[in-house]
Amino acid sequence: FNVSEINCVIETTDAMKEVLNRDVPRVPTLRGVTIASIFYEASTRTRAAFDLAARALGADIINLTAKNSSAEKGESLLDTARTIKAVGANIIIVRHPLAGAPYLIADQVKCNVINAGDGAHAHPTQALIDLYTLQSSIGNLSGKKVLIVGDILHSRVARSNIWGLSIMGAKITVCAPGTLLPSGLRGEQGKEKPQKSLPHIEIETDLDSAIEGADAIIALRIQKERQKSNLLPSLREYIKLHQINNERLKRASPNAVVMHPGPLNEGVEIAPEIVSGERSMIDQQVANGVAVRMAILYLLLK
Ligand code: CP
Repeated sequence: FNVSEINCVIETTDAMKEVLNRDVPRVPTLRGVTIASIFYEASTRTRAAFDLAARALGADIINLTAKNSSAEKGESLLDTARTIKAVGANIIIVRHPLAGAPYLIADQVKCNVINAGDGAHAHPTQALIDLYTLQSSIGNLSGKKVLIVGDILHSRVARSNIWGLSIMGAKITVCAPGTLLPSGLRGEQGKEKPQKSLPHIEIETDLDSAIEGADAIIALRIQKERQKSNLLPSLREYIKLHQINNERLKRASPNAVVMHPGPLNEGVEIAPEIVSGERSMIDQQVANGVAVRMAILYLLLK
């Protein structure tokens, strides 16, 4: 997406929020449209938000998971997608543990495909939610310092946010223990800049320095399920060095907001008093998830 496409999603999201604030939060805009979601990985927020978004726009929605579909019997990803298309789906929403799965479907099956998270590669709708939530709370993102801290190595949210934030002109710093920073971010040995294809970002391992003057902090979950080897000595050490707590937050801008795409490891990435405090945007992110997904469904079909 370019700036005007992101702004278009943001403006459409505002209109969708207006719909959601009505006494009966429903419009017939997508009546007659069938949307199918296939989740090969667990999800609470994304799946619930797409489901509510589809219903709020008057569409029919079929929700499949790897466990309740014929994938259990060995049906391939493409066969499942072709079957869903054949029964009449106009949009297929896919979450998959392997990077590229939604793009394979988009390439092979003539249907609108939405990536609901593919491996450690991308989670575009989450990034759009984060951009919307940030813009609603701290205003225009141009020149704002946004710190992304946590398990960058395994995070599709970090990658999509790096693209989105950089397009909107934010100054991005990522911070993690060295073992949770992908080598591609740091650039090849002997070269000063990271890979040419990535936007410019600052990379830090010391959170106390990284958080200095930040306007927003996006904390990311330690993804124990994706870690193939022990990348952290202990969670206790991670908490000591990389948890967002009140002491550290004092170093950020006085109005800095704290976000987390969820699910969070309670008491790990963010201190509990901050999660429930006034700087936390976590509930707003979840709530905005419905309106942003309504905007995306609407823009794809209309
Ligand atoms: N943020 C996010 O993608 O959460 P879920 O895994 O619960 O969908």
